[in-house]
Amino acid sequence: MQLFSKADELRAWAGERRQRKQRIGFVPTMGNLHAGHHSLIDLARERCDAVVASVFVNPTQFGAGEDFARYPRTPDADAKGLEAHGCDALFLPEVDAIYPFGAGEGVRVRVAQLGEILEGASRPGHFDGVATVVAKLFNLVQPDLAVFGSKDFQQLLVVRRMTVDLAFPIAILGAPIIREPNGLAMSSRNQFLDARQREQASVIHRTLLWMRDRWHGDGRPLAEIESEARDRLGESGLLPDYAVIRRSEDLAEPAPRQSTGLVALIAARLGSVRLIDNLQFDD
Ligand code: PAF
Repeated sequence: MQLFSKADELRAWAGERRQRKQRIGFVPTMGNLHAGHHSLIDLARERCDAVVASVFVNPTQFGAGEDFARYPRTPDADAKGLEAHGCDALFLPEVDAIYPFGAGEGVRVRVAQLGEILEGASRPGHFDGVATVVAKLFNLVQPDLAVFGSKDFQQLLVVRRMTVDLAFPIAILGAPIIREPNGLAMSSRNQFLDARQREQASVIHRTLLWMRDRWHGDGRPLAEIESEARDRLGESGLLPDYAVIRRSEDLAEPAPRQSTGLVALIAARLGSVRLIDNLQFDD
């Protein structure tokens, strides 16, 4: 696996692959890679001739007081795991390779409305940071395919919309969520949970399943299901931010008897850790 830290090196590598008519698959990450990330590499590997990953803890998607400084950075282990999964190149840029005018300056990409609800409302500016860095990385790599985990379901929608709106000729693939045996969705932030908290956090997945079953089951109103879901999280010691059922295409509220194209989404805090998860009802 080749390692690059300079944008020009990455561009040259990708350009050379394109000249050879190779199909390029791209997996952007913030590192501290686990089985969930490796599954994204595997999907890119199956579909493409050349696979490149990036590891960049993007400062512009963290708000003041969020966990940017303590976000786990494990570049050596990341490189080993990527290589073992057949990744051909790893881009490990410094901040100035991505933000030549400084992280707070320069161009910002904003996905209006979709980027401002739910996660976007709880973390103002978060999706501006995500859309901006992904657009920059897309310009550098110019992949044919980019793979994103669907644990960050709203992020996936934001990236899809940004890709269409800015006319990037890139296919976006959403990869299934990889879970621990108790249902907890894999996340780099899980390592801040102790064993007891990991068990406690499994209530998130159970609540998502409960929300789906209630919605399909007895025709209860949306607000009632969402309110009881928050109560269930609270009773297990989590501090819910939201627990909602939305249309999976645009995260708008569903019609009362809508039966397809739905997703339940939860964000909740456990101690100092903010966890998100979702369940698409069509899965
Ligand atoms: O999902 C992530 O790890 C990040 O939000 C991404 C897409 C790599 C952008 O920094």
